[in-house]
Amino acid sequence: MYKILKREVLVPNTVYLKVEAPEIARKAKPGQFVILRVDEVGERFPLSLTGWDKKEGAVEVLFLIMGRSTMKLSSLGEGDCIMDVVGPLGRPTEIESYGNTMCVCSTFGVGPAITLVKALKEKGNKVVSVMEAKDETYLFWEDRLKSVSDETHVVLGDGSRGKHRQASQFVKEYLESGNKLDRIFIFGRVFTMMECSQATKPFGVKTIVGLTPIMVDGTGMCGCCRVSVGGETKFTCVDGPEFDGHLVDWELLIKRKRAYLIEEARAFDLWQLDNLRRIAELSELPERVSVV
Ligand SMILES: Cc1cc2nc3c(=O)[nH]c(=O)nc-3n(C[C@H](O)[C@H](O)[C@H](O)COP(=O)(O)OP(=O)(O)OC[C@H]3O[C@@H](n4cnc5c(N)ncnc54)[C@H](O)[C@@H]3O)c2cc1C
Ligand code: FES
Repeated sequence: MYKILKREVLVPNTVYLKVEAPEIARKAKPGQFVILRVDEVGERFPLSLTGWDKKEGAVEVLFLIMGRSTMKLSSLGEGDCIMDVVGPLGRPTEIESYGNTMCVCSTFGVGPAITLVKALKEKGNKVVSVMEAKDETYLFWEDRLKSVSDETHVVLGDGSRGKHRQASQFVKEYLESGNKLDRIFIFGRVFTMMECSQATKPFGVKTIVGLTPIMVDGTGMCGCCRVSVGGETKFTCVDGPEFDGHLVDWELLIKRKRAYLIEEARAFDLWQLDNLRRIAELSELPERVSVV
């Protein structure tokens, strides 16, 4: 069992947890993730590592409320326990001295982005960070990202901060203005990763994306997280989760992520019906989103 040490609702649809997991904290590296099972009847689902503290023996995750498992996880409080947390899984990010780098993040991607930016800075890279959010209400950890990056830009979907509404527009203009990038990393919404990859392709900037297909076992055995990269089949859990964004078959990824929408909606409704009292007792219940 893995005890929740800290819980915070960051914005209406996103929850942060610090969880006691000394073995995982000891080995964790940027780019890796864990697979959780909230209770004995829970499904296995992955979350990126947002941070870890070897001394405290704890790891941090943050997650969007998408459906049954994330809503169930969000209904746990400090002192409650998660049944299984397995990890660290996946290949760590390749971090070298690239020169000028950019890190783009949206929604939960802010978590893995912060760990990566710190590691890139330790290797002497210049890091420009770009945060994308729907509007001011859904923006979090801007200060944290600012404190580790050389430059931080915020792009809001309602256009209330600057002229861009999507991170990809910012990236395109940044490159068109003659700025040089040696590598860009993108985490969070699939559309942010896809559109930013399209924006960097004409400029030949090496583009790394953290893919989030549906996963089950996380050990390369079930084939569920299959993606196509450069025409080759890859298993995201063991070959990734990071791949070259210019080579990803985005259409296939989106189609496979949406394969169980009806079953997921049913599972969520059933869980809500079974847990009306628990939901009513929560003082801060986050809201559910439907973003791919
Ligand atoms: C390597 C990796 C890292 C991830 N990191 C984060 C993170 O840090 N924060 C975060 O909020 N989300 C992250 N995700 C996505 C997260 O796993 C899903 O949002 C979550 O499983 C949704 O489950 P649900 O039951 O709440 O929603 P459901 O209603 O069951 O599903 C909603 C949508 O989530 C996706 N999903 C469902 N089940 C899974 C599954 N077992 N594995 C992956 N995706 C699934 C599908 O696209 C589905 O349509 C990550 C995914 C991967 C593969
Ligand atoms: S989750 Fe089963 S092969 Fe990757």
